[in-house]
Amino acid sequence: MSDQRPFIPMVSPQVDEPDAIAAQIADVLRSGRLSNGGPLAEGFERAIAAFLGVQEAVAVSNGAVAISLAIEAAAVRRGKAILPAFTFIATLNAAVHAGFEPVFCDIDPETWTLDPGHLRRLLAEHGATLVLPVNVFGVPPDLAAIAREARGAGAAVIYDNAHGMGTETASREAEALLTATTYSLHATKVLVAAEGGVVVSPDREVSAAMRRLRNHGLAQPLSASVPGMNAKLDELRAALALSSLRRLPEALARRRTYLDRLRAALSRHPQLYRTQRIPPGVNPNGQNLGVGLIDAPIDDVIAAFARRGVEARRYFYPPLHALDCSPAGLVLPNTDRLCAGQVCLPLHGRMSEETLERVEAAIHGVAEELEARRLSARSSRPALLGAT
Ligand SMILES: Cc1ncc(COP(=O)(O)O)c(C=O)c1O
Repeated sequence: MSDQRPFIPMVSPQVDEPDAIAAQIADVLRSGRLSNGGPLAEGFERAIAAFLGVQEAVAVSNGAVAISLAIEAAAVRRGKAILPAFTFIATLNAAVHAGFEPVFCDIDPETWTLDPGHLRRLLAEHGATLVLPVNVFGVPPDLAAIAREARGAGAAVIYDNAHGMGTETASREAEALLTATTYSLHATKVLVAAEGGVVVSPDREVSAAMRRLRNHGLAQPLSASVPGMNAKLDELRAALALSSLRRLPEALARRRTYLDRLRAALSRHPQLYRTQRIPPGVNPNGQNLGVGLIDAPIDDVIAAFARRGVEARRYFYPPLHALDCSPAGLVLPNTDRLCAGQVCLPLHGRMSEETLERVEAAIHGVAEELEARRLSARSSRPALLGAT
């Protein structure tokens, strides 16, 4: 029997002030200033820099182009780029578009983020010029260790923090050692512009270069840096981003409450579920709720959640080294083990009590169903002859 109530999707974009945004967009449309550094995009840049506690931030048209722009602006020497295979394909695309040869790094088995030990070995073996660590579901990698390894090898670090807006970490200083940190404002993210991104660099020259390059490389009418690109955040999306930013502290507080509640439900079934480890000093933003499955057929788990009206979706799947565009045969043990049984469950910017209870009930119900199946499979298995 399937649950007949509305299906609960894994992600559900959250817009808190649709009428206020619509009114502001109507003003933009009447103003005739739709893009190219209008007051809303500039206001958003100032507001997001203040939120992040940085000198300046550069607003761009999406999180993928944010990585490309940072690479170009910092003029990272082309060569090999080391990145995790457990990420969204945008990280790989940015490296390949820029002319890097990708080298896939394994993840830490508990935090699911880039493993600094494997990074060290890959840097020694490949002499890469770029490292692209990635925030996974709101949890940052060990940036201090990664920055140390990369520096020792002379490689630039561009941190793909598409998932990390609002995550608090005790090691923020480590970000000052990086070439740039990029964010996504995609509809599925904590801070939403429908499509949009932000780049922060501790190097003012890199920020200045990003401002030039995002507008086709044009500086003044007769001056240009090529190759430029069109990576501007327009005024319509800036209106959305500004509204989402105003409501971000409340949204983060809600997401953290949901994350804690749902992780607590998962932790009651350690025979089936394992949660992503949150390192000490990290307060994640509740971007996604990742779940690792222990010895359970993943398709059965997805189907059991679906029967209860809850989406369980493989995310960052398949891992990049398993795509048909990657060389065959690469083994990344921690990534492979995780991806054999990993899903994300619903976590939204706003969830009703009823929705939360349905997700909790599904977590418990699926665990009990799977456990009952395991027990019955065990009891119907014939005893091994001669076993001692
Ligand atoms: C890890 C990661 N990097 C980069 C991106 C690209 O961001 P955008 O969709 O804003 O281009 C995403 C997108 O969701 C992502 O998950």
